[in-house]
Amino acid sequence: MSRFPRRATPRRYLMCSPAHFKVTYSINPWMDPSKPVDVPLAVAQWEDLRDRYRSLGHTVEELTPRPGLPDMVFAANGATVIGGRVLGARFAYPERGPEAVAHLEWFREHGFTDLLEPTHVNEGEGDFAVTSSYVLAGRGFRASPLSHGEAQEFFGCPVIGLDLVDPRYYHLDTALAVLSDAGDAGDAGDAGDDVMYYPPAFSPGSQAVLRRLFPDALIAEEPDAVALGLNAVSDGLHVLLPQGAVGLFAPLRERGYEPVPMDLSELLKGGGSVKCCTQELRG
Ligand code: ARG
Repeated sequence: MSRFPRRATPRRYLMCSPAHFKVTYSINPWMDPSKPVDVPLAVAQWEDLRDRYRSLGHTVEELTPRPGLPDMVFAANGATVIGGRVLGARFAYPERGPEAVAHLEWFREHGFTDLLEPTHVNEGEGDFAVTSSYVLAGRGFRASPLSHGEAQEFFGCPVIGLDLVDPRYYHLDTALAVLSDAGDAGDAGDAGDDVMYYPPAFSPGSQAVLRRLFPDALIAEEPDAVALGLNAVSDGLHVLLPQGAVGLFAPLRERGYEPVPMDLSELLKGGGSVKCCTQELRG
């Protein structure tokens, strides 16, 4: 039984192969440089995700991976695109700094003309989540609080700051996923923006903001959050998420979504999963 009719809308994504993926430094609690990474397996898992998007009718663009940038597979961090306007990234840690340049070059080569190189640290969609009404913006571990004003001015869209408090959920997209924006609602229903999130990742005040904005949100439990289940990508109907987040499957189905479990076990070693690998090119 679903509360609202759900409908997939075609998306355009930017992804980057983990051909040079490694864990050589540790900038989040998931990364342990002493654990080996199986690159061919990482590539196979990533190709599976890319091909799944394509089989669902979405467009996937590929950014060429660069040696020496082992986290480049986490393409969500390289920029934020809304209505064809590109807000570049500025990374918190120098190890990832050059990724921002690689992304901007890609956008310039692909006909995007409205680009901003930011003054303040923001790691793209790692900390910016886009709904039809707002940009939700994480802070606390990576993005500078000043990046929120910069994004609001550039996009002309209200930016809602949310404080992250648990280092395991160092980016907003590890603690919250947008399931549908108003445009995804079927004709018969006005479902509006729908999100799922893990409350303990947020400060008490930010939890209250989320309850106010999304009173009907899907609330995740700890085992699914730890499985990085909130690091999910929805096209309005299909929700691609880490396969370990089994507790989310039934609640997603009850809300009319189709969970699509993905195995990205190798990329979990870098602290990322489905959403981290996927930057959405909007408009
Ligand atoms: N190792 C990367 C980092 O810590 C993982 C980034 C994950 N990306 C994301 N969108 N959460 O920066």
